[in-house]
Amino acid sequence: MKDHSILRWSGSKARLLPSLLRFAPQRFNRYVEPFVGSAALYFAVQPSRAVLGDVNPEVIDVYRAIQENPHAVADALDSIPHDRAAYDVLRSIAPGHLDRPQRAARLIFLMKSCFNGVYRTNRSGHFNVPMGNRIYALPTRAQLELAHHRLRATDLVCSDFETTVKTSKSGDWVYLDPPYKPKGRYRGEFGYGARFTDECMVRLLEVARKLRSKGCFVMLSYKYDRDLVHHLADWHIHHASARRSVAGHSIFRESERELIVTSYS
Ligand SMILES: C[S@@+](CC[C@H](N)C(=O)[O-])C[C@H]1O[C@@H](n2cnc3c(N)ncnc32)[C@H](O)[C@@H]1O
Repeated sequence: MKDHSILRWSGSKARLLPSLLRFAPQRFNRYVEPFVGSAALYFAVQPSRAVLGDVNPEVIDVYRAIQENPHAVADALDSIPHDRAAYDVLRSIAPGHLDRPQRAARLIFLMKSCFNGVYRTNRSGHFNVPMGNRIYALPTRAQLELAHHRLRATDLVCSDFETTVKTSKSGDWVYLDPPYKPKGRYRGEFGYGARFTDECMVRLLEVARKLRSKGCFVMLSYKYDRDLVHHLADWHIHHASARRSVAGHSIFRESERELIVTSYS
């Protein structure tokens, strides 16, 4: 299935799309995705009305820039040479010193070129991922225009997931794709620029239950986790497998067992 995402993003659900679409509700009002990242499912579904959120301001800025002026983003992308020197310069610039189209082009280019498509920041909040061994194809002007048309009827929210879903109503489809629990010890670096702690997961499950009782169609995807299956035993649990897009060194990439849990049958 073709991935229409603009960003290359660790944790992208592009490879899980056939399973996610299989378990989509047949009809829904608005599409709400509070952990949007590269928005793989949103671009595949092409909903007529949507709310997209992420706690990472750089991610939301990319979609705002494309929503406002896709040509300015395309021009900014065109001005970037495809080499390591450009990567080093862009990585060292604080995004706040650029205008919105330039910030969007910077993140799109860094993600297409960085090691394994990982977004990670240091303690000062600065992107610190080294360059990978190739630069993946950057979005064309036509792809940015298409994304612009899709984003026109979409509200963008830079916030924690709980705020993004607050306006969800009965009949809305809410897709929850939180970060997976990190493996290994915390070393002061932030995957996705934020930490998704065990407390965040507990809060997310409470929010998911509230959304279900409001009458929303809730879908949650996560790596296979016995505790999660236990907590959501009264939901509909589906098993899927997908080759992880990013999992450290390429020799460790393998098919992972994934869960797709829905509040509806
Ligand atoms: C697994 S990724 C989502 C991937 C997305 N479904 C895709 O296909 O690209 C999780 C996303 O959640 C965001 N995030 C982390 N903590 C968050 C929070 N508390 N509230 C909202 N978004 C958060 C991260 O910035 C990241 O983009």
